[in-house]
Amino acid sequence: MHLPTSTQLQNLLDIATEAALAAGAILQTYLGKLEEIEEKGRPGDLLTAADKASEVAILDVLRRHVPDQPILTEESGQLGTTESEYLWAIDPLDGTTNFAHQYPFFAVSIGLLFAGIPCMGVIFDPFHNELYRAAKGLGATKNRHPIRVSQTTELNKSLLVTGFAYDRRETADNNYAEFCHLTHLTQGVRRSGSASLDLAGVAMGRVDGYWERGISIWDIAAGVVLVEEAGGKVTAYDGSPLQLRSGRILATNGYIHDSISTELGRVSPLTGWENPLVKR
Ligand code: IPD
Ligand code: CA
Ligand code: CA
Repeated sequence: MHLPTSTQLQNLLDIATEAALAAGAILQTYLGKLEEIEEKGRPGDLLTAADKASEVAILDVLRRHVPDQPILTEESGQLGTTESEYLWAIDPLDGTTNFAHQYPFFAVSIGLLFAGIPCMGVIFDPFHNELYRAAKGLGATKNRHPIRVSQTTELNKSLLVTGFAYDRRETADNNYAEFCHLTHLTQGVRRSGSASLDLAGVAMGRVDGYWERGISIWDIAAGVVLVEEAGGKVTAYDGSPLQLRSGRILATNGYIHDSISTELGRVSPLTGWENPLVKR
């Protein structure tokens, strides 16, 4: 097993960028012009012509440049061999609910794993024309300028972001308790509706930390590389190494990582957590 060289990573970054820009241009043409919006199963889990067309555009670019590398996409599942050390993890439209409501916060997310570890990622926000790129050892950029995580060292001075998965109505483990708890302990917790842009936000220092449960590999594969290459930290909730398929992620500027991990550990909605800050 040979890790990709920096020249190979640079080449893969350029391929992912070509795909993300093509997909982003397609998303822009659909914005405000959707004729039909399907629900995938769970209430609120939407699928539009834009998700599908964006995915087609990405697959077209990858099939031209890296026909032998397997691809996992949100809308098509696993495509290609399982033998390779590489796996592309793609969300053609991250923030579909926002997109369907013309709330301008959505992105294309293209990540690449090598031997199960994210090694390269490109996230493109076509509405704001913001292109985020990172690869292991090559740093992280926004519109080709280097980015760094924030310098906030105290939880009570931090701004966080999180999200709520589509199974939120069906489970007590729906992140509501964690949201309330951390809202009390910080300057605020935002819910943007696009996990990849949340991770990009941590990487560029717009927010100090992000956590979420019920998240999929295509939501985070690219963003994990961005945060790490921008000097941040990405783990499981308890600070142990991130398990990409566990559905749980904690990504921060590093300084407030242990504090958030500790507070997430104190919140247990499944065992009847009570907010210690609320007087009864
Ligand atoms: C969703 C967004 C949202 C997050 C959900 C994701 P989608 O992705 O990233 O921010 O809270 O868990 O499923 O469905 O818009 O691609
Ligand atoms: Ca997504
Ligand atoms: Ca999606």
